[in-house]
Amino acid sequence: MSESARTTVVVSGAGTGIGRATALRLAAEGRHVTLVGRRRDKLDEVAAHDQRSFLVVDADISTPEGARRVADAVDTADRACVGVVASAGGNAPAASDGSLDAVRDHWRASFDLNVMTAVLLVEALRPDLEAHAGRVVLLSSVSALRGSRTGAYGASKAALHAWMFDLAARLGRSGGTANVVAPGFIPGTEFWAGVSDEVVQNRIAQTLVGRVGNADEIAGLITWLLGPDAGWISAQVISPNGGMVLGR
Ligand SMILES: NC(=O)c1ccc[n+]([C@@H]2O[C@H](COP(=O)([O-])OP(=O)(O)OC[C@H]3O[C@@H](n4cnc5c(N)ncnc54)[C@H](OP(=O)(O)O)[C@@H]3O)[C@@H](O)[C@H]2O)c1
Repeated sequence: MSESARTTVVVSGAGTGIGRATALRLAAEGRHVTLVGRRRDKLDEVAAHDQRSFLVVDADISTPEGARRVADAVDTADRACVGVVASAGGNAPAASDGSLDAVRDHWRASFDLNVMTAVLLVEALRPDLEAHAGRVVLLSSVSALRGSRTGAYGASKAALHAWMFDLAARLGRSGGTANVVAPGFIPGTEFWAGVSDEVVQNRIAQTLVGRVGNADEIAGLITWLLGPDAGWISAQVISPNGGMVLGR
């Protein structure tokens, strides 16, 4: 078996949105991709594009068991993980009443969804990443740079940035990299299902280029970060946002 046939890039949130677009673009460039998410049908739909390019693992990676299942599946498939794209995340259900218990539950759920899904997945795969100069891309958001107006979402995404610095230092010892990609407004994903035209127009008005972004543009940047020209890009927060936030 050739070296490329024995490696894989693990993409979480791969059944929809940015994760799906990234998985398809990586496969189009000849990479093998391990698709991770909770809904098997969404992952199978992606894998159906080319069964030879994909391994499907349905798992809840906010739990240690789920993250371990991904690492075990990669191992059982006799592949080495050389990259992770942590795209699983989103808005946790809002606090239902004004009680402190509800506030605490909302913040914990947001942390589980946006931080633990990335931390547990990368930690489960870290032996492979350290052995193969692995590349990691964590999906954050402009909300981590300017607030989300919902409190917990932007704050939990911001936690990824400081962790990424430590991860970049650790992976760098063996030539690997870690970076954060913090997109602006990308409708057409489940994240923004049912978004109103008023919100879309408001977000467009916040950009300098006068339009929304799309998942394939974000996938292109992520794929480049995992590719041969980006080996010297590490410990960076890169925000593709159409000029919505300046200087990041
Ligand atoms: N769209 C935007 O405008 C935007 C902007 C900035 C940042 N982002 C970030 O970009 C990332 C991708 O978002 P998206 O726009 O592509 O939204 P999306 O379509 O909702 O994708 C999120 C994915 O995460 C998966 N997921 C959630 N919890 C999981 C868990 N515990 N274990 C495994 N998979 C889980 C979901 O699949 P299952 O439900 O099947 O598990 C889903 O496929 C997110 O981290 C989001 O916060 C999005």
